[in-house]
Amino acid sequence: MTDNFQKKTPFFTKLKQYGQKNVAPFDVPGHKLGKIPNDLLRYTGPKIFELDSNSPIGLDHLNKPTGVIKDSEALMAEACGAERAYFITNGTTIGILAMIMTVCKAKDKIILPRNVHKSVINGLILSGAIPVFIKPNIDTNLGIANDISLNTVQEAIQENPDAKAIFVINPTYFGVVSDLKGIVQLAHDNDMSVVVDEAHGAQFYFSKSLPQAAMDSGADISALSMHKTAGSFTQSSVILCQGTRIDHHRLRASLNMLQSTSPSSLLMASLDVARKTMYFQGEKRIEKVLMLAKETRNKLNQVPGIQVMDKDYFLSNHSFGFDETKLIIKVSDLGLSGFEVYQMMRKLGNVQLELAESHIVLAVLTIGTTRQHLEKLVQGFKKLSEKYYKQRDILEKIEFEYQFPEPYTRPRDAYHAPNKVITLDEAVGEIAAEQVMIYPPGIPILIPGEIISESVINEIKFYMRKGSALQSDLDDNQIRVVDKDTWIKWEGDLDEF
Ligand SMILES: Cc1ncc(COP(=O)(O)O)c(C=O)c1O
Repeated sequence: MTDNFQKKTPFFTKLKQYGQKNVAPFDVPGHKLGKIPNDLLRYTGPKIFELDSNSPIGLDHLNKPTGVIKDSEALMAEACGAERAYFITNGTTIGILAMIMTVCKAKDKIILPRNVHKSVINGLILSGAIPVFIKPNIDTNLGIANDISLNTVQEAIQENPDAKAIFVINPTYFGVVSDLKGIVQLAHDNDMSVVVDEAHGAQFYFSKSLPQAAMDSGADISALSMHKTAGSFTQSSVILCQGTRIDHHRLRASLNMLQSTSPSSLLMASLDVARKTMYFQGEKRIEKVLMLAKETRNKLNQVPGIQVMDKDYFLSNHSFGFDETKLIIKVSDLGLSGFEVYQMMRKLGNVQLELAESHIVLAVLTIGTTRQHLEKLVQGFKKLSEKYYKQRDILEKIEFEYQFPEPYTRPRDAYHAPNKVITLDEAVGEIAAEQVMIYPPGIPILIPGEIISESVINEIKFYMRKGSALQSDLDDNQIRVVDKDTWIKWEGDLDEF
């Protein structure tokens, strides 16, 4: 295919035509292409509703595409250098679940870093896979977990030659990347497939100045959130695949098990048009964003109490690479926590940041970021600095040890085991039956099957004190644990689970 094909938007074009055809719609959705007046319709006008259809004749089916969805997926695959693409309308969350269910059956081993997104843990519960966790590089200065080194992957492979797959994050929420190409080489030499979480990496497919994308690195399968960094609507994502290691029937079956039978046509159309824009304008516009990011880093680094990390910082801390469209802004020298700054920047500067951690905040830049946005960001930090710098003590080092709990049993076993709800103070030494995390970033502090240590409880309490959005299935101060009194502990044979 050529540039001429990439100009096409098969699904969006057909959807637009359908809305203009004056069809009498006796199918769902019930708004009948915008014939029920409501506040949203009055606010946006009827066009959004005209584009919201549910598989009428000619618009193909996401669960088994043979027409325009298939054509649009093929264009996405081509634009990203993949052999196949699958559109997703329930986010990379579903993509990750489906990828894990495709490469792992129950009790298959998968090697993965512990700082994965919660969907990966849910993928372990659904598939029944056994996680072999490897420790990521920890940055105690910033209080974040980064990439995984080739050595730790090699050790994990040597100790677990029967593992079926290796899971890699490209990049982490904070923009740090591992040596994915090296990992792929190691994995393939040992007959393991490589599964990639590119929720924050869609832009890699459209620029040579950014870290290498999963498909370019030779990975077998990857899920990317086009909605996060490539301009499509929230929840629209894509799975990309190549090579012979992925069983496409299993992938299709997993996706169809997890996805709605009424996929949003608006989301699919937005994937089509976002791909076209990124294909034709991505390279040039990402260069501009990188230039703006550099300028902004320089300006912010002159603000007293503010430090912005760049690629050199991460390389000197033994990470493999960094996506410079992310601004990791260290704020603790202002005497404020990232959580406080996250709130204050909105109030004081009308700036919405992506997330906060104890010592940093994260600003995500895309080709939609303007010079005016960045000027507001700088002004906001200047105001904060004027108000707080040297007014408060510099925050001491991270208030908890950055360590991961010890696993005791498969996440699926703990999830299905008899369980009980206790208070956090009673939980030391118990086995977790649920995930606990702050969101964002959604990296679990605790997952089902892990032993609850005192330091984990301290970490959870630390986040509670900081008022960050702590997510577990229960109220604060409570936790669901395995009821060891009634749990018949397996000894090697997990069949009943
Ligand atoms: C690292 C990572 N993976 C996966 C996801 C899930 O992506 P989505 O929001 O597209 O479902 C997220 C979401 O924040 C994430 O941060």
